[in-house]
Amino acid sequence: MAQSLVTEKLTLSYGTTTIIDELSIAIPMNKITVLIGANGCGKSTLLRSVARLLKPKNGAVLLDGEDVFHLSTKEVAKKLSILPQSPVAPEGLTVLQLVKQGRYPHQTWRKQWTEQDEKIVMDALKSTGMYDLQHKIVDELSGGQRQRAWIAMTLAQDTDIILLDEPTTYLDLTHQIDVLDLLFDLNRTQQRTIIMVLHDINLACRYADHIITVKDRTIFEQGKPEDIMTAELVENVFDLKCQMMTDPLFGTPMCLPFGKGRVIQQLNKV
Ligand SMILES: Nc1ncnc2c1ncn2[C@@H]1O[C@H](COP(=O)(O)OP(=O)(O)OP(=O)(O)O)[C@@H](O)[C@H]1O
Ligand SMILES: [Mg+2]
Repeated sequence: MAQSLVTEKLTLSYGTTTIIDELSIAIPMNKITVLIGANGCGKSTLLRSVARLLKPKNGAVLLDGEDVFHLSTKEVAKKLSILPQSPVAPEGLTVLQLVKQGRYPHQTWRKQWTEQDEKIVMDALKSTGMYDLQHKIVDELSGGQRQRAWIAMTLAQDTDIILLDEPTTYLDLTHQIDVLDLLFDLNRTQQRTIIMVLHDINLACRYADHIITVKDRTIFEQGKPEDIMTAELVENVFDLKCQMMTDPLFGTPMCLPFGKGRVIQQLNKV
């Protein structure tokens, strides 16, 4: 089991533009953490750097106390997997071939494909509803199917820590809930650490043990949804006026955004 994932005075930039500035945070282990924040605030940049895909300008990401850039790609990939925001599959690749690539970090010249690898790949295909589509070409899938194929590949990597950048984009509501439920089960039954970016604040509040809000090159606020998610926070982080209520099904915070709409209720006039 991975023991810790922290950033130490992490500074991330593209050229001379600083995106994240001297950020020190500890990701709670064996929990579900959701990153939220406005478009362009640096969520993907942060996630990519945690997954060793982007080198920090300063500071470090420490996985079990070791700088991820001092570890080999394979060592990191055995502990941590990432589903990037807009992954691109090589042309002509089938779903099965894509998902099998998730097993790559576990293979060596001595240990080739095993029954265990096969089982993990099949389980990943089934749990994402992609089993029947496994022989399809990834490029020829619908947006939602393609997203689920990538999620299956990420799951096939079978890591303690799973990072997902907007895993629910392109998915219809049923599949959004399916994917989030699947991640929830992986967390609750197998103690996997999940860190994901979501744009739906209400789903974030339902599933997250811990929410991290990103703004102005750093963390604006973090904590349990019930403790931090207020209308004031939403206005600060997203520049959006809203009313916070309690989700009638889950008892978690629920954000009702103001704005225009077909029927204007009294409530909306603030
Ligand atoms: N490869 C790149 N080169 C230069 N600038 C980049 C690059 N990738 C991202 N940026 C810039 O860095 C900033 C943060 O981008 P990032 O993708 O991390 O935002 P985000 O919070 O994930 O946004 P979104 O919600 O739209 O996905 C943005 O201003 C973006 O334009
Ligand atoms: Mg992003």
